Amino acid sequence: MANAIRFFELNTGAKIPSVGLGTWQSDPGLVGEVVATAVKVGYRHIDCAQIYGNEKEIGLAFKKLFEDGVVKREDLFITSKLWCTDHSPEDVPEALNRTLQDLQLDYIDLYLIHWPVRMKKRSIGITPENLIPENLIPTDIPSTWKAMEALYDSGKARALGVSNFSTKKLKDLVEVARVPPAVNQVECHPCWQQSELREFCKAKGVHLSGYSPLGSPGTTWLKSDVLKHPVLVEVAEKLGKSPAQVAIRWGIQMGHSVIPKSTKEARIKENFDVFDWSIPDDLFAKFSEIQQARLIRGTPFAQETCGQYRSIEELWDGEI
Ligand code: A2P
Repeated sequence: MANAIRFFELNTGAKIPSVGLGTWQSDPGLVGEVVATAVKVGYRHIDCAQIYGNEKEIGLAFKKLFEDGVVKREDLFITSKLWCTDHSPEDVPEALNRTLQDLQLDYIDLYLIHWPVRMKKRSIGITPENLIPENLIPTDIPSTWKAMEALYDSGKARALGVSNFSTKKLKDLVEVARVPPAVNQVECHPCWQQSELREFCKAKGVHLSGYSPLGSPGTTWLKSDVLKHPVLVEVAEKLGKSPAQVAIRWGIQMGHSVIPKSTKEARIKENFDVFDWSIPDDLFAKFSEIQQARLIRGTPFAQETCGQYRSIEELWDGEI
């Protein structure tokens, strides 16, 4: 099949489909239908997180897809993430149980520490009231990771990883981990290519997964022009593809998986139509000229008087 989905192999031996569906900012009331559409289009990788507030509805969609025989559980690769309020070792298994219950699953393919950030227990949502310095407390990633390892041992999480970890934070984790992280999911697109982290991941066998692969153009608090960048526009015109397709294909050719989010059927299809063509070397080389800028800066997690990161430089260990 010319349009066959491509996979990358994780250090667990599992295969992660190169293109997944992102569900951040996919609202309840819509996300179930969106997931069902994506699976029918051929997506086999769905990226979720407890903090997105939509796992229950995604779970209902999975249940129906399995019952209707559209797809088998074992043919899907499903990710979820531990939120910052659940870093305490005793809270980690409960958090995964909640996610599994909401998603109506017995196991998750990949469970990630969502941010290298710890928040007080009851500060649940990402709201201005919760993101006050008193609620941001020091992390203890080694002890959180030990609790994650127990989930891996139990089989409830078939692979473990992190998200939003700088090269330094990932290195610190790799040094103490008994079960090595399989994935670091980070912002990654042609305007934020993660060169330093990519090299480290490659050397250590950690798969890089790229969120915001289109630069999250619909996010009101971001000024994102990724899809309008002249290199993307030019390459898209030359290949007869859309800038979004070029951004996704660039990611696959760089060797990382990508999780574009869309709630529109036409775009869900368009974003998946990236397997039977490629960006030729001469055009691919143009991407190395693009000026780099991080979009998702994590500013609310770095506050001058909080318990850990006093600045975004500290949060990202200078990778900004
Ligand atoms: P929508 O959900 O209305 O389709 P990212 O995955 O980088 O976070 O980007 C998601 C944003 O990009 C959403 O606002 C989504 O809007 C939009 N989007 C998704 N697919 C495309 C596409 N093919 N072309 C343009 N915009 C897209």
